[in-house]
Amino acid sequence: MNRLKLDGEISQDISRAVALLREGELVAIPTETVYGLAADASNEQAVGKVFSAKRRPLSHPLIVHVGEPGQLSEWATDIPALAWQLAEQFWPGPLTLILKKSPMAPAIITGGQDTIALRIPGHPVALAILKEFGGALAAPSANRYGRISPTAASHVFGQFGDDVMAVVDGGLCPVGIESSIVDLSTEEPRILRPGLLDGELVKAGVAPYRQDGESQGPRVSGSDLRHYAPVKPASLCPPKELKTRIEQQSGGKIQVWSLTPNRYGLQHVDWVVMPVDPAFYARELYLRLHDFENSDNDLLIIEQPPVTSLWRGINNRLQRATRLTTEESTA
Ligand code: TXA
Ligand code: MG
Repeated sequence: MNRLKLDGEISQDISRAVALLREGELVAIPTETVYGLAADASNEQAVGKVFSAKRRPLSHPLIVHVGEPGQLSEWATDIPALAWQLAEQFWPGPLTLILKKSPMAPAIITGGQDTIALRIPGHPVALAILKEFGGALAAPSANRYGRISPTAASHVFGQFGDDVMAVVDGGLCPVGIESSIVDLSTEEPRILRPGLLDGELVKAGVAPYRQDGESQGPRVSGSDLRHYAPVKPASLCPPKELKTRIEQQSGGKIQVWSLTPNRYGLQHVDWVVMPVDPAFYARELYLRLHDFENSDNDLLIIEQPPVTSLWRGINNRLQRATRLTTEESTA
């Protein structure tokens, strides 16, 4: 299969991407959060290719991306008023809504569940593709199952080789971590996957994310303990223990992500100063993880960011990226 990198005239690229999607091919597209591996949501065979390309188990349902809020009522039923309110407030944007599915949604997308995940992405290229395509696109993050999510077109090429028909290059993803997921299919609306909107969602009446709630309710991929992970060891470290932790390492090249330029006089480490603003930190997170993976460093030590609601989505991804494979593997 030919792989194409679509990065010529943007309007041309969009038409070619749409043509491939109509033929049932996979196309990686930029969204504001991460790159998505898109397929025509109404074509079960095309959706099946997403699972095989990602090597993702069929039990992990996909997010359906639409271009217009009106499409909600095609794919979902029993839509509560809060759903329309959140759609109005946050779409296009990094929010996914879980609703009761309509008969239109094939079981392969929903993992056989009676709910469906929907969102309108806030990226001009994704929106232009959705608009020209007219239908809906099932698109998980364009990474292999359990691996680091892609925030640049080059990340997608790095992981997929020939399994993806085309990658539409839309530059770096401005949000940088996946959308917040809100479950509106039960009595109590709740955040299932934290992102950058958690504070505002709670203000809008959604119950906060609960780490211990992960094993209940619908499957959320990302809810596997280890996820978004680099292939080399990475660990989180409280700020106070950073110096000692670094000094304790014997052998191997160390990269450190710190929130300050204070190196404690440790000259031999690759010291990366991370942004102190969570929105900027999120934007850099996966880029930096990819950089670490491709670097000659053997080990990554990440200074624990503040444990506050603003940082919840980031801390969630950092915890998953640093879990030991022996605890639970996603393989
Ligand atoms: O920002 C994002 O959400 C990106 C971009 C590409 O849109 N997509 C993304 O997709 O993160 P993925 O497949 O990596 O994660 C989708 C999440 C999974 O955790 C999946 O289990 C959950 O959505 N999901 C999908 N349908 C669901 C359902 N019916 N109930 C509960 N969770 C669902
Ligand atoms: Mg993912």
